[in-house]
Amino acid sequence: MNHLILLGAPGAGKGTQARKLQDERGIVQLSTGDMLRAAVKSGSEIGKKAKAIMDAGKLVSDDIMIAMIEERVQQPDCKKGFILDGFPRTAAQAEALDAMLAKLGLALDHVIEMTVDEKILTERIVGRYTCAKCGAGYHDAFQKPKVAGVCDVCGSREFTRRADDNAETVRTRLDAYRKQTQPILPYYRTKGILKSVDGMAEIDDVARQISAILD
Ligand code: AP5
Ligand code: MG
Repeated sequence: MNHLILLGAPGAGKGTQARKLQDERGIVQLSTGDMLRAAVKSGSEIGKKAKAIMDAGKLVSDDIMIAMIEERVQQPDCKKGFILDGFPRTAAQAEALDAMLAKLGLALDHVIEMTVDEKILTERIVGRYTCAKCGAGYHDAFQKPKVAGVCDVCGSREFTRRADDNAETVRTRLDAYRKQTQPILPYYRTKGILKSVDGMAEIDDVARQISAILD
């Protein structure tokens, strides 16, 4: 029961919960956003194509994203299972995912929708930052490190903020979510694998809701 999708608007808490699941259950987080940001940083061809699109808050093309995930799910660390965070985001990606899993003899166990009020998303996103060294996630108000300015996980004092985490880009990202990603929910509902959790709850409470679905 270890192949799942976390689906939700930008800032819904997909990354936060995927990292928790990875730490607690040993199933790997596959964040297409993180993969693209790594590609941008490395200056690869994909990174060059993706940067302007991501900075504008629009979706990178399906063919790039599908190829990226298809390659990733076949890596050895995915053997115990994976949590898809940020993929699929379009109907074409959802269909391609089904086809690639079928080819690998795998099936999706759960698609977990994280529901949140749109009005809090901007606040969550604009206050977000991560450890530059280990990638642990924080928030100016909702998830502060135990010692101010020091990462809880690795002790680093360097943090970064995402280029697309500003109020203006969030509007475009939300629009993409409503128009391109939300329409895939019925696809999973029909298959009987869609569950919802209340993403407005405290971080640990959301984690408990997800665990209840998985166990
Ligand atoms: P991506 O990186 O996936 O960004 P996103 O979907 O916009 O989602 P976020 O990462 O912003 O939110 P999250 O749900 O992970 O929230 P988090 O846990 O950090 O994609 C970025 C871009 O890449 C896209 O715009 C697109 O251009 C491209 N892309 C990626 N995948 C693609 C694909 N498949 N196809 C095409 N293009 C693609 O939480 C947010 C903040 O809130 C944090 O600070 C956290 O501490 C806090 N928080 C979390 N949970 C709670 C809670 N319960 N209570 C209070 N605070 C909370
Ligand atoms: Mg994320």
